[in-house]
Amino acid sequence: MQDKTIKIFDTTLRDGEQSPGASMNTEEKIQIALQLQKLGVDIIEAGFAAASEGDFDAISKIASVVDESTVCSLARAMENDIKKAGEAIKNAKKRRIHTFIATSPIHMEYKLKMKPEEVIKRAVMAVEYAKTFVDDVEFSLEDACRSEMSFMKEIIDATIKAGANTINIPDTVGYLLPDEIYEVTKEVCNFIGNRAIVSLHNHNDLGLATANTLSGIQAGARQVECTINGIGERAGNAALEEIVMTIKTRSDKFEGFKTNINTKEIYPTSRLVANITGINPQPNKAIVGKNAFAHESGIHQDGVLKHKNTYEIMRAEDIGLSQNSLVLGKHSGRHAFKDRVSQLGYSLNDEEINKAFLRFKDLADKKKEIFDDDIRAIVTSQITKTEEMYKLVSMQLSDCSGGVPSAAVAIEHSGETITDAAIGNGTMDAVFKVIDRVSNIHGELKEYKVNSVTQGKDALARVVVKVKFEECKTPVMGHGLSLDTMEASAKAYINALNNYLSIKK
Ligand code: KIV
Ligand code: ZN
Repeated sequence: MQDKTIKIFDTTLRDGEQSPGASMNTEEKIQIALQLQKLGVDIIEAGFAAASEGDFDAISKIASVVDESTVCSLARAMENDIKKAGEAIKNAKKRRIHTFIATSPIHMEYKLKMKPEEVIKRAVMAVEYAKTFVDDVEFSLEDACRSEMSFMKEIIDATIKAGANTINIPDTVGYLLPDEIYEVTKEVCNFIGNRAIVSLHNHNDLGLATANTLSGIQAGARQVECTINGIGERAGNAALEEIVMTIKTRSDKFEGFKTNINTKEIYPTSRLVANITGINPQPNKAIVGKNAFAHESGIHQDGVLKHKNTYEIMRAEDIGLSQNSLVLGKHSGRHAFKDRVSQLGYSLNDEEINKAFLRFKDLADKKKEIFDDDIRAIVTSQITKTEEMYKLVSMQLSDCSGGVPSAAVAIEHSGETITDAAIGNGTMDAVFKVIDRVSNIHGELKEYKVNSVTQGKDALARVVVKVKFEECKTPVMGHGLSLDTMEASAKAYINALNNYLSIKK
């Protein structure tokens, strides 16, 4: 009987990181990789080793801590890229190199400026060279879905002979419809037979990434590439949670199909990625959106109370969504806190637990009820913190209703507390001006987002900013968490400054 296990290849840390503004630091990537492993992802694409030193470093560190999932690096079909990928993953227990080259006429002519024969030669060279580093090599035909089938077969045949174990046929621009993906996948599967695994990688430009992926599975693909919350280049990639939950929920249509995903880890993983990237899924996002399991209308609420299945096709518990119950309070000890943190999917060392516990205690003194989402917010901001070269000590704001908005801010730097004050167009403007002046680095605020972590007037405010500093080409992200929105804003701005300085260093 044909094996119907679908391998889940997660590319949150590579294609997902290509979402505008989603760049993550090494610590953040390690936390996400460990959570992906816990989720049961078969292959983690940890990055693109040749892209930057930061990428290389993050992939190598992930390779040394992840021991169940395969760790993979992307590489263009170029010697240097493949060498870098091979070196970055060398400490992984299970490792893969994923190399690619474009195969569509438009990409070959205008982007690569290469003849089809040269493209095949390059692809074969890439796979053969990758094989000198690892046994497990994946080859992708970039823009496969706009490529000619006869050329695809030629290059697929050549790369399988060169040693490729997985052949990926991406819909790079999210163009095809589900029935077309079915046809392409079927033809490729028939051509390949059992010589390699066929993989899909669908982008969401027309909102069809998940539908296309599911259609390709029906046609014979046995690996799917996806991201948490569907983040990714442009409109994103197929969302892992949607693919996995459809296979599970519609087992009548996907009879015998299975994945190795522990669905109870879906929600914790989604929150971790959202907290780290600052990209929250839209409220009506399937599976992980805030409203995905909320019933607003009276008729629906009445129906669900009488029988859950009237309006629910999945159970919230199946994706690990607790109803945000009250978990800990002021009297909870370190042990209970540590337990809860690990139940929520975080692996913290003793020092990190101690620091997070102090923040928890501080919060519990001010806020009566502490929810899971509060703990997630505290822990994420703790573990992803870069070196605090500048640290907020205190701030005092003037009344902003009618008077001149001003701020006096005390900041710790190199063991010294510096105090300064400024006026601004609003109190926030004044605070940011003081920070610029104290650090002598000018930042331009490009984006500002504020969310409340839970409900309630005493909820924690979570601020995410993107700040463009003088010498940085792209804006740097910063997070801040506090019961006070202005304090959270100042912390977020200072966090962006610290991130910028650590990138520079
Ligand atoms: O979308 C795409 O084609 C890709 C490849 C590198 C696999 O991301
Ligand atoms: Zn892609």
